[in-house]
Amino acid sequence: MTMLLDLAKEFKKKLITDNPVFEHSLHNKRIALVFFENSTRTRFSFELAARHLGAGTLNFMASSSSVSKGETLSDTIKNLEAMQVDAFVLRHPSSGAADLITGITSKTVINAGDGSHEHPTQALLDIFTLREYFGRIEGLKVIIIGDVLHSRVARSNIYGLLASGAQVGICSPVTLIPPDASRLGVSLFNNLDQAIAWADTAIVLRLQLERATGGYLPSLEEYSVHYGLTDERLERIQKHLLVLHPGPINREIEISNNVADRIQPPGYSKSMLLEQVTNGVAVRMAVLRTLLAH
Ligand code: CP
Repeated sequence: MTMLLDLAKEFKKKLITDNPVFEHSLHNKRIALVFFENSTRTRFSFELAARHLGAGTLNFMASSSSVSKGETLSDTIKNLEAMQVDAFVLRHPSSGAADLITGITSKTVINAGDGSHEHPTQALLDIFTLREYFGRIEGLKVIIIGDVLHSRVARSNIYGLLASGAQVGICSPVTLIPPDASRLGVSLFNNLDQAIAWADTAIVLRLQLERATGGYLPSLEEYSVHYGLTDERLERIQKHLLVLHPGPINREIEISNNVADRIQPPGYSKSMLLEQVTNGVAVRMAVLRTLLAH
């Protein structure tokens, strides 16, 4: 992981200059961006990352493909492989979909988020963002707040942060804690004030309204009162906090407008949300180059 983060750091230096000049190490590669779910950050950042490295991209949207006529995921992948693509970047609503297609193609497969299972490149960019800000991950106390049960971002971050030496806590209503939480090696909090007081930084999760409201929560208002990250809460407990969120955000539900948008002092929080998006391009360039340049 350190090697990927170091490479991403080099790419970020180039990305934020006025006239970036990139290498073309992937000039002979074709990368299929196969998205069965909507995406803004992941899809566009992979596309930009591929282009910055000179690769060609094919954009696959399930809604405008032959999937709408009943074609299976396996047949879709085999047909794209027959067009001589070199790699698949797959976003799919089913947990395990990326693993499934590694069994039917010899090409490189990158998981861009599968159901509520994993989102590895999101965790990499979150860890990159924290490492850049704090200068280390070892010993950092990271609280993950919200709908952990349905969150592929939480699962990948827990694995990546623990492997990097961080301490990880999760703070959720009991109905949104995964049943295997006690085996993940994280500290469990159900009081947000105590969780924030413990932490150096917070990763706030999107409340997955399409899933999490179905009997998991009494009401959104109640969730927001107990688990929403607001200026008032941070001021009351006198805590300055670096705040990450993978996006998209539900404003005024899991995070207040002030906390989401504050990128400069004064205030009790600093938002890294857009910095994370920039870092996503650099991290995905590092992933693509590492996997495909040879
Ligand atoms: N963070 C994230 O995966 O965002 P998108 O769904 O917009 O890709």
